[in-house]
Amino acid sequence: MTPRLMMRTSATAMVLAMGASALQASDVAEYLDFFEPLPAIAPIPANNSLTPEKIELGKMLFFEPRISGSGVISCATCHNPALGWSDRIPTAVGHDGQVGNRNTPTVLNSGFLGSQFWDGREPDLEGQALGPIEAEIEMNMDLEAAIRRLKEFDIYHEHFAAAFPGEEDPIRAENIAFAIASFERTLNTPNSPFDRYLRGDEGAMTGQQVEGMKLFVDAGCVACHNGPALTDSNFHRFELPGSTDEGRFIVTGDEMDRFAFRTPTLRNVAVTYPYFNNGSVENLQDAVQLMGQQMLGQDFTTDELDSLVAFMHALTGEMPALEIPALP
Ligand code: HEC
Ligand code: HEC
Repeated sequence: MTPRLMMRTSATAMVLAMGASALQASDVAEYLDFFEPLPAIAPIPANNSLTPEKIELGKMLFFEPRISGSGVISCATCHNPALGWSDRIPTAVGHDGQVGNRNTPTVLNSGFLGSQFWDGREPDLEGQALGPIEAEIEMNMDLEAAIRRLKEFDIYHEHFAAAFPGEEDPIRAENIAFAIASFERTLNTPNSPFDRYLRGDEGAMTGQQVEGMKLFVDAGCVACHNGPALTDSNFHRFELPGSTDEGRFIVTGDEMDRFAFRTPTLRNVAVTYPYFNNGSVENLQDAVQLMGQQMLGQDFTTDELDSLVAFMHALTGEMPALEIPALP
C-alpha cells in the first residue's frame, strides 16, 4: 500500500532541544518550523490517481445506504457533513442501534494522517474504506452482497466504468475502496484563520489566538500536534478515567502500546466535539486541561485555557463545498 506520510519527528526533536525560552519571538516564520498551511488536496498515493470520475463515484458510495445490511446506514450517517463530518455523540451508533466503544473521528483532512483509526490499524484511506461496510457494529454488510447490490443499478455500472476505464468488471471491492478514498482526499478545510496567519496575514488571528498559538508551542503541545494536520500521526499513552480500551496494544500486542492512541488532527477541533477516543469529554476547555495534565504535567490557568481554546477555534477552516449526490 502507500508509504506512510513522513513523521514529523524533526519538529518534535526541535521543540525538545530548544526548550521554551528560545521560542518567544512572534515572527510568523518561526512557527513554520512546526506548522504548515493546510494544502487543498491531501497527498495522492502512486497506486490511486485522483480523477474527477473516482471522486464523483466515491461521493455516491459515501452517501449510499444500500451497501449496508439494513439498507439505511451510509458512511455519512456517522460522518455527517452537517456535523463536522462526524456525529457529535460520544460513541458511534451503528447497525441495529448497536453502540460502539469509540468516538467517530471526522473524515475531514483524513488524507493527511499517517494512519487511520484511533489505534492506527490501517495505514491509509484505501485500507480503511471497506472496514466499516463489513463491521457488524457499523454497516454489517458482506462485501460480495454490497457488490451485488451496486450491480443492480445501471448508473453504478456507468460510474465504475468511467472511474476505472478499460476494466472488464470494475464493480469490485478494491475499486470501491479506491473511489471512497479519492473522495475523502478532497474533504479538506484550507484557509482557516491559522492558515492565513501562517501565510503572512498577521491580522487573520486575534491577539488572544496568537497568544494561544505561542502557548501551544511553548507548553509543548506542538511536540505531538504539528505539521499540516497538527498531528505527528504517532501513538501516545493516554488514560481516560474509567476506560478499558487498550488502544494500539490491541493491534501490536506490544506492552509499550497499551493505552496508546494516535494523535488526532486538531483541524476543526472546535466543531468535532465531543473529544477523545471514547468521546467522554464534552468541551474544549476540559479537553485541553486534561491534555496539559496528562501529556505535559501542567495545570493551565483560566487565562491560559481561554487563549489555547481561542487558538483551537482558529483551526476551523473552509468546509468542502459539496453538492449532495442524487442516488439511483
Ligand atoms: C456506525 C458509524 C460509522 C459508520 C457507518 C462509518 N464510520 Fe467511519 N468511523 C466510525 C468510528 C467509530 C471510527 C473510529 C473507529 C476506531 O478508531 O476504531 C471511524 C473511523 C473512520 C476513519 C478514520 C479517521 C481517523 O481519524 O482515523 C475514516 C477515514 C472513516 N471512518 C471513514 C468511513 C467510511 C468511508 C465509511 C463508509 C464506508 C465509514 N467511515 C462508516 C464510525 C463510523
Ligand atoms: C505526547 C503527545 C501529546 C501532547 C504533548 C499533547 N497531545 Fe493532545 N492528543 C494526543 C493524543 C494521543 C490524543 C488522543 C487521546 C485519546 O483520545 O486517546 C490527543 C487529543 C487531543 C485533543 C482532543 C481531540 C479530539 O478530536 O478528540 C485535543 C483538543 C488536544 N489533544 C489538544 C492538545 C493541547 C492543547 C495540548 C497542549 C496543552 C496537547 N494536546 C498536547 C497527543 C498529545
